[in-house]
Amino acid sequence: MARILSGIQPSGTLHIGNYFAMMKKMIEFQDKHELFCFIVNYHAMTSLHDPKELAENTLAAAMDFLALGLDPDRCHFWTQSDVPEVTELTWILGCHTSLGLLERSHSYKDKLARGLTASCGLFTYPVLMAADILLYQANIIPVGKDQKQHIEITRDIAERFNLVYGETFVLPEPLISDDIAVVPGIDGQKMSKSYGNTINIFEEEGTLKKKVMKIKTDSTPVEDPKDPDTCTLFALYRLFADENTLAGLRERYVKGGLGYGVVKKELLGLIRDYFAPFRERRAALEKDRGAVAEILKKGAEKTRAVAAVTLDLVRERTGLRYF
Ligand code: ADP
Ligand code: TRP
Repeated sequence: MARILSGIQPSGTLHIGNYFAMMKKMIEFQDKHELFCFIVNYHAMTSLHDPKELAENTLAAAMDFLALGLDPDRCHFWTQSDVPEVTELTWILGCHTSLGLLERSHSYKDKLARGLTASCGLFTYPVLMAADILLYQANIIPVGKDQKQHIEITRDIAERFNLVYGETFVLPEPLISDDIAVVPGIDGQKMSKSYGNTINIFEEEGTLKKKVMKIKTDSTPVEDPKDPDTCTLFALYRLFADENTLAGLRERYVKGGLGYGVVKKELLGLIRDYFAPFRERRAALEKDRGAVAEILKKGAEKTRAVAAVTLDLVRERTGLRYF
């Protein structure tokens, strides 16, 4: 049985890119594997400094996961900062991480280019992520393509540590599905909380409609054939449609005579239907936030027990345990 682990940043409202690339897979794994799923609020702090928003987003992310079917009794589900052991391991790993490795991080360079402050936390973000993974000796990490390099950095750090102190950490593998490696946003760029181009999972009805109608398309006239493979609208449609419906749409694209407005209306219906069964539970959770916080606290207790075992070994191996 593999140990599967992944985290999500509460840096904004969770969107369908997060859902298809990560949350959906995690929820499916809870039946067959040992699952570790958490909300990485320390990571979100690299970009978010509004205390109310951070707290609100953390609880909202937890409610989203629970509403979509994550069962805290069948997995480890917690908030990163409730297991402070991770910061101790971050320090230890940081002392075994070369600056060069972090300087090569695409994600760091991208974030600087987008105007984020180059804080120490932003720079060492991958070390905290390595600690997240290695602390729980996880084998498989389901993420979107943008996180691949972070898993490679984690492996580099673990390999170096194992070389110096003897086999200590499991080397993790990323799990990235090719078909949904990058979910596009309504503007055609990668859908991201920080680009303002998201369709949120529990989007309010009016906003959902507005956003779907705004999805960027090219200016091919209605009667002309269209290219499904370069079309943002088609890429989003395929996430929700079954195989037959999708094959049908592909034909309609290639044949010509299809207006994008029609496809948008169909997509709107598909998105609505897809998330409808989860809305009631999401609303119920919203009314009982105390219970949600309690689930996270209990999850953290359960998870700390696992963290303690690894940290004990690390302290022994490194000489931090001196007697
Ligand atoms: P965001 O870019 O919106 O802040 P996160 O960095 O919190 O998203 O990502 C959480 C998880 O969702 C990661 O595994 C990430 O790879 C995945 N993810 C986020 N956006 C997308 C997307 N547009 N397409 C595919 N995966 C995505
Ligand atoms: N960096 C990841 C992201 O932005 C979130 C994350 C933090 C994570 N720690 C993790 C993902 C550990 C997987 C495993 O999406």
